Amino acid sequence: MNNPLVPSWLAENKDLNALDSNIWPSSAVRNERGELELAGLGAPELVRQYGSPLYVIDQADFEARLEKVRSAFEVAARQAGTSVKLYYASKALLTTEIARWVVKAGYAIDVSTGGELAVALAAGTGGDRLGVHGNNKSLVEIGRAVSADVSAIVIDSEIEIERIASIAGAQDKIQPVRLRVNSGVHASTHEYLATAREDQKFGIALEDVPQMVEKIRSHSHLRFLGLHSHIGSQIFAVEGFVAAAEKLLDVHAELLSGGEVPELNLGGGFGISYTAADNPMPIDELAEQIVGAVQSKCEALGIDIPRLAFEPGRIIAGPAGVTLYSVGTTKDVFVAESGSGSNRRYVSVDGGMSDNIRPALYGAEYSAALASRSSNLDGVLSRVVGKHCESGDIVVRHEMLPQDLAVNDLLAVPATGAYCFSLSSNYNFVPRPALIAVKDGKARALVRAESEQDLLERDLGYQPGGGE
Ligand code: LLP
Repeated sequence: MNNPLVPSWLAENKDLNALDSNIWPSSAVRNERGELELAGLGAPELVRQYGSPLYVIDQADFEARLEKVRSAFEVAARQAGTSVKLYYASKALLTTEIARWVVKAGYAIDVSTGGELAVALAAGTGGDRLGVHGNNKSLVEIGRAVSADVSAIVIDSEIEIERIASIAGAQDKIQPVRLRVNSGVHASTHEYLATAREDQKFGIALEDVPQMVEKIRSHSHLRFLGLHSHIGSQIFAVEGFVAAAEKLLDVHAELLSGGEVPELNLGGGFGISYTAADNPMPIDELAEQIVGAVQSKCEALGIDIPRLAFEPGRIIAGPAGVTLYSVGTTKDVFVAESGSGSNRRYVSVDGGMSDNIRPALYGAEYSAALASRSSNLDGVLSRVVGKHCESGDIVVRHEMLPQDLAVNDLLAVPATGAYCFSLSSNYNFVPRPALIAVKDGKARALVRAESEQDLLERDLGYQPGGGE
């Protein structure tokens, strides 16, 4: 006990078999064998069927979050005397099947590349349910978006105004557009996740907005919907959203003298719990405070409250996902610098930074639990690491795991539904895991696992049988 390497937020004596409902999907329980069960299916059985590592999405949990977030914003908007349109930020997690869940729940889909657009379209998503982002959309991507009649394209730079107008003109269409604004708001999150500080690539500076909107309005093939702001991701505090909304509304009010501005889109970025240390504001409170602030600001400016739009991603997909891994090796490492010296147990699993780059990229923290059985032994400070050739290949930096954790045990890492599958890679030629959905005691693969053969087949020098 009292290992100085244990961070202050991690309880050394926590119940290692417990599944904190703030972090785990709602169907996660331990069954009578002590196994982690998701939607009634034991982790060992899922791994036997679909392989390890394995991305598991609790479909009912994902759908419940869609509902919860939608109702939070709808209630807040109704109270403020306006309406809201929700776009699911598909960069968090997208497959054709997931696109269908999202559309069925009344959402539109925000895509930011031609690839995401292709998946959403392949799922049968109508153009009225699509919004297109991206700071460098190609002519081909814009062309496909315009011909799909997407409900909005978000303009990110001056160059795009002409580009979109001429493509819409060539297709004889009037394309609705928003203008992304860099509000200069400093959201307190990791530097790479903060997207609205001055010195970054997204959006138009506030002071240039009137001139850009005039330009947009001068094109008969464009229809200006309103301003857009996305201040960053994994944000817990409401202040950044409110500050950005207020700044945008000042300009929004000015723009009304030149024509209609029916909408205001305040993006996504709502944070979730990855560990017991995370305590995000409940989404209904957050929605009420953001929308309430918009309403007060509009009253102060003497303008009508516009229709609102938001783009949540992580808050829907993140907590619905769990990744299962198999333990391959364990090793105790003596860390001399920790005062009198202490041990950290390194637990190596069969995946790593190729299926979850977030710890390496953002220093993200995760939790983990033994999934193939329970244990009544005390915990040991452990670090779950991957199989890649990098010392930064960490899956869970700090966790208490049972002393008897052994080779072939399964570990589960919760809150991996967002930005894990979508940011996965083939580093070290590691094939990517399957992504499965579980619901009501049934599992089905949404995306099959990759094989080494899949990877070899892209290599044009590959000769089956070895070559000379
Ligand atoms: N809208 C826009 C314009 C965005 O750029 C993003 C995220 C979202 C909405 C959705 O944000 P969310 O609600 O999911 O926080 N890879 C990083 C996150 C990058 C987010 C990029 N944009 C991570 O793993 O934390």
